[in-house]
Amino acid sequence: MCGIIGISSNKSVSASIISSLKKLEYRGYDSAGIATLFEGEIKELKSEGRVDTLEQNFDLKNLKGNIGIGHVRWATHGIPNSVNAHPHSSHNVSVVHNGIIENSTILKKYLIGKGHKFKSQTDTEVIVHLITENLKTRELEEAITSTLKQLHGSFALGIVFKDIPDLIVGARRGSPLAVGYGPSENYLGSDSYALKSMTNKITYLDDGEFCIIKKDQVVFFNEDGKNINKKILELSSDEASYEKGDFKHFMAKEIEEQPNTIKTGIKEYVDKTNSEINIYNFPWNVNEINSIKLIGCGTAYHSCLMAKYWFEELTQLDVSIDIASEFRYRKNRFKKDNLYIFVSQSGETADTYAALDLCNKNNMKTCAVVNVIESSIARDVNFVLPIHCGPEIGVASTKAFLGQILILYILALKLASLRKEINNKNYKEKVKDLQNLPSLIEKSLLIDNDIQAISSTFNEAKGSMFLGRGFSYPIALEGALKLKELSYVHAEGYPAGEMKHGPLALIEDGMPVVVLAPRDSYYKKTISNMQEVIARGAKVLLITNKSKDEIVSENIWETIEVENTNDDLLPFLLTIPLQKLAYYSALKKGYDIDKPRNLAKSVTVE
Ligand code: G6P
Repeated sequence: MCGIIGISSNKSVSASIISSLKKLEYRGYDSAGIATLFEGEIKELKSEGRVDTLEQNFDLKNLKGNIGIGHVRWATHGIPNSVNAHPHSSHNVSVVHNGIIENSTILKKYLIGKGHKFKSQTDTEVIVHLITENLKTRELEEAITSTLKQLHGSFALGIVFKDIPDLIVGARRGSPLAVGYGPSENYLGSDSYALKSMTNKITYLDDGEFCIIKKDQVVFFNEDGKNINKKILELSSDEASYEKGDFKHFMAKEIEEQPNTIKTGIKEYVDKTNSEINIYNFPWNVNEINSIKLIGCGTAYHSCLMAKYWFEELTQLDVSIDIASEFRYRKNRFKKDNLYIFVSQSGETADTYAALDLCNKNNMKTCAVVNVIESSIARDVNFVLPIHCGPEIGVASTKAFLGQILILYILALKLASLRKEINNKNYKEKVKDLQNLPSLIEKSLLIDNDIQAISSTFNEAKGSMFLGRGFSYPIALEGALKLKELSYVHAEGYPAGEMKHGPLALIEDGMPVVVLAPRDSYYKKTISNMQEVIARGAKVLLITNKSKDEIVSENIWETIEVENTNDDLLPFLLTIPLQKLAYYSALKKGYDIDKPRNLAKSVTVE
């Protein structure tokens, strides 16, 4: 992952680079660095830790230079320290890099043989020396073209040169990179978010392309070094959604934004008057699709699993799911009647993109459910269904998850209707029920006091479990993931019925276990499984929905009741307490909620 920024201007750039790096920290935050060009010298400053630490360690206000690059790192090669932090520089060239150079060992040997000296443990440093070497015998564009051809793996690069002091080179293969246009200055950034406060005019580089950025001009090249023209996109300005407002953390804000996420999704995809779903113009005949494969990573993978239950319930389609990093290296049987659905908040996750690329190479039907509509995944599928939930900054995904499952549910309903696999009355009722979802989520959010008290038990325990059956099982997995990510507490999600086949052995006196048992068709079965864990000493937090019927079970430690709705939609409501549980556990521990240790929001490396 990592975040990169570059600015070529007619004024000093260090302050803008630092403020953009702060925005990019969601991509990586174990070290940070900046390099500027001033009076024929490259000045490079780097620190372990956050951008704040970089600011504390150096007098950045007095760092001069109208051209500069910056980087926030998520370590791949070499521990997070100031030596391995980017930029990496030779006497002549300075580079920031996001990605992994797979042939770095071979290249390093070759370059050492040529007399180059290496300082860091990173793969990136080979790029610096390779360009330096190629510049000995070639002009800039030719040196860049041949350097990029020698690199295997993935990269987004920002490069400055001591001897060519008026420009920055940007290059992309596999990792995202955007160019921005400002008044008497131009920019390079890992994404439009980093550039947002400076410009809303953006061009995205495609794989294999590079560019030369001067303060008053940007020129693009293809992988053979030939000039190409690229479109300039104008992005909407939604600055407010990038601020925390009165919230302590982005995650808290994003949890509370969920009624709105659902409202927007419904507004976008549902015709209230006719109780109809506005998804048209499929680029294929939906009756030619016999099976669906959903692919994603992390939380997005849990959305895929959730969708599998709905697709199977509502349609006759054969549905399978895959973790992108597994799918991309397996021997897949590509079938013409299969639809591949890629689920991703960022639309840039390297494994998910690689899985899509594989499908594209095999001429498969592809569709994406994404948040970032300018992303690589959104651009490279046949059909995009954006979730429109606005920027999600907290590393642990919350509103994007609800946004993803909403669109997947809507898609399942629409396909069922088009394929005549659901009767019209049932279809219309289900579409109508969606209208109440935002207000039900709003009510389900009012549980802070209960959850705060409960969260201490999870913090103090050695580990915890999250159990659910049917529609609740994917939510149990997501709840456990949230707690792991934020609180660094061991948490496992299991199908409730699977406990007796092994995991029950882990239950001991006082172990907190979350049981998701809404009053759906699985209710009685799940309650039996709950009794089995209570009998073995577990402290059960039961999460169910409100009902006139009493809960017929004894010795439940705590109960939380969410609002009531049809069975299909209960997963939305069950998710809320689990997000809050993770949030408050981490808050009590004083952990960095928006930037949990070792993680990053956008994972653009394998
Ligand atoms: C990272 C994030 C997760 C996210 C996953 C997939 O691991 O920390 O929150 O679920 O990537 O990201 P995507 O952008 O593809 O949804």
